[in-house]
Parts: sequence; C-alpha cells; structure tokens
Amino acid sequence: MSYQVALNFEDGVTRVIACNEDETVLDAAYRHQIKLPMDCSDGVCGTCKGTCLQGSYDLGDEYIDEALTDDEAESGLILTCQMVVSSDAVVAIPAASSLCSSGPQSMDAEVTGVTALSDSTIELNLTLPEALGFLPGQYVNLGVPGTDQTRAYSFSSLPGETDVSFLIRNVPNGLMSTYLTSEAKPGDTMSVTGPIGSFYLRAVERPVLLLAGGTGLAPLLSMLKQLKKEPTEHPVFLLYGVTGTADLVKLDELSAFTSELENVNFATVLVDKESGHERIGFVTQHMDAVPFEIESADVYLCGPPPMVDAVRNYFTESGTQPNAFYYEKFNPSTPKQESAA
Ligand SMILES: Cc1cc2nc3c(=O)[nH]c(=O)nc-3n(C[C@H](O)[C@H](O)[C@H](O)COP(=O)(O)OP(=O)(O)OC[C@H]3O[C@@H](n4cnc5c(N)ncnc54)[C@H](O)[C@@H]3O)c2cc1C
Ligand code: FES
Repeated sequence: MSYQVALNFEDGVTRVIACNEDETVLDAAYRHQIKLPMDCSDGVCGTCKGTCLQGSYDLGDEYIDEALTDDEAESGLILTCQMVVSSDAVVAIPAASSLCSSGPQSMDAEVTGVTALSDSTIELNLTLPEALGFLPGQYVNLGVPGTDQTRAYSFSSLPGETDVSFLIRNVPNGLMSTYLTSEAKPGDTMSVTGPIGSFYLRAVERPVLLLAGGTGLAPLLSMLKQLKKEPTEHPVFLLYGVTGTADLVKLDELSAFTSELENVNFATVLVDKESGHERIGFVTQHMDAVPFEIESADVYLCGPPPMVDAVRNYFTESGTQPNAFYYEKFNPSTPKQESAA
C-alpha cells in the first residue's frame, strides 16, 4: 500500500511522490531523487521541519523537543524524517524546489484534440508520456510550439491520468491562441512543465463556494471532478460568470455534476444586458444566489485579473469574510526576452 504525498515547495512547485507504508516522507522523497532539507535524519536537529496541510500521519516518539515542540506538532508542523503518512497528504516544504535537487517536472506531450467550444474558448487535450501528479486547481506551463515561449494553463482534468485537458481563452492575436486556432493538429508535440501553484482544493470541511470568470472555470472543473470522485456532504456551489451567452461552456458537464451529486449546484451570470439571462452583471452582484452563508465557506476564485480584484474588493467592502479565501489570477504572461547576442 502506498499513499500520494504532494510536496509543495516555497516557489510554488509541487512534486507528488508515492510513500510506502512505514516509509518516512524524507526517505520516499529521496527515492524520487528529491533531496529535502535535512541534517540528522534522527529527529534531533529540526532542519527537516515542514507543515502538513492535509492528510493523516504519525510522527512516532523518537524525536526530541528541540527539533519539534508539542505546540508545533499540535499546530501541524512535522519533521519529514519522522513523518509516516496513513493517507494521501499535502506537505509544505519551506525551501525552493531548486534547492532540493528538484524543480518542476518537464515532459513532451502529444496534442490529441483542439476543440472550439465557442468563439472565445478552446479545449486542448494532451496525452502525457506518464501520468502527472498534481492537486486539483494547479497549473502547468505549456510551450507554444515553434517558439521559445510558454503560457500558464490550469488543468480542467483530474490528476494522475495521462490524458489531460485545458480550457483556453481565445485571445485575439495571442501567441498560444493563434497557434491553437490556426496551426495546431493532433500529433503535434507540446512541452509541459509543472505542476505549479498554491491554488488547489483543500480538505473539504465546510461549504465550498467556487467563483469562475470565463476560462477560470478550468481549475474549478478539476476540483468538481475530484469532488465527484471523493464526495463530500458539505454543500458546493459554483457561480460562473462570462460576458455573453456564447461564452458559456461545459454546461452539460456542470449539469451532470448537479444531477449526480445532490449537494452540488451552480448558477451562471452574464454581463450582456441584451441576453435576457436571469442574472445580468458581475458575479459580485449575484452573491445572493449562494445557498449558504459565505462566512461559513471556503471560497475558491479564478478568472481574469479585473474579476479577481472585483471579488476581493467586494469581500473587503461588504465586510464578508469567508472562512478561507483562495484565488488564482489569469495574469497575461510577460514574453520571454530574446537574449542579447
Ligand atoms: C497561473 C495562471 C494560470 C492560467 N490559466 C489559464 C487557463 O486555464 N486558461 C486560460 O485561458 N488562460 C489561463 N492563463 C492565462 C494564459 O497563461 C495566457 O496569458 C493567455 O492564454 C493568453 O495567451 P496567448 O499566448 O494566447 O496571448 P499572448 O500572446 O500572451 O497575449 C497577446 C496580447 O493579449 C493580451 N492578453 C493576454 N491575455 C489577455 C486577456 N485575458 N485579456 C485581455 N488581453 C489579454 C496580452 O497582454 C498581449 O498584449 C493563466 C495565467 C496564469 C498566470
Ligand atoms: S533531519 Fe534532523 S530532525 Fe529531521
């Protein structure tokens, strides 16, 4: 029996490793060629201290108080040289991945599908040479074929599979957008580097509010798929905002979630006043559609920067303080500069 442990490094890189029963996280990482910070490996120095963000584990009783105090252990701090997990887990490592002989994984994937879901949204399907562990909500950098540029995209698919998918906004004249709309074909090769990011689904212990703007739906779809795999009894509600009716995608899939999982629901919001839609405007104007107290919920927000800023301002100005608030901004990338010869 082994468990999946996601090591989250300080620079946002995540590596998912398999930990065998009775194997410490430090040893399992080493087996995966990841050298976590350590000195004594005996529970004496405290160099391997990290924080367990999710999952159950045992630290044994071999370590000393100077390495980890009872208060620290109580608050979720761990020693990777002592930690043996008894479930899948997420562990924050207070060091950059590059200092751990690690870094994001990089691989070449095959393009297996490019589908225009609407004028504004493209679904990209890739097949990876091996399944990639990530946390639902995280992203990778995809190389734009024929260039030295990369763009960040959040998975809309489930972790641990070789077939992965993305929802990509068609930005007029954008580099990746132009490749996808005019050149891409099945069989093309695309580089994939990651997974990266601190925007991911935490253990569900209370109501969950998902707020999506446009293709910001992608990581939330990955989270919903995870919730379908591991259902929760807590209510989950998605408020999904786009510009016009034609920008709404994946409604069938969203409806399927709501019919299969009775505690999952969603509502859409359209900016377009002429659409005749029942909710017009921005998601911030339709928070009353949320069927639970936002203060009692964990909120996950993803979309273009103006939408993310608008929701953050809404929470501040309305004095609404969710239990936890996680967000991902789809910032436009800064093109890589060509190096001076
Ligand atoms: C962490 C992260 C995750 C992301 N995940 C996704 C995702 O899942 N799906 C997705 O669609 N995008 C996502 N993005 C945005 C994505 O990385 C690209 O920036 C976007 O797809 C544009 O790429 P492009 O090559 O087509 O356009 P570019 O060549 O990068 O841009 C062309 C021009 O359009 C401008 N521009 C770029 N994006 C926008 C925009 N949204 N609105 C208006 N103007 C813009 C640029 O400033 C530039 O002037 C993410 C960004 C980040 C930082
Ligand atoms: S490496 Fe010294 S306490 Fe873990």
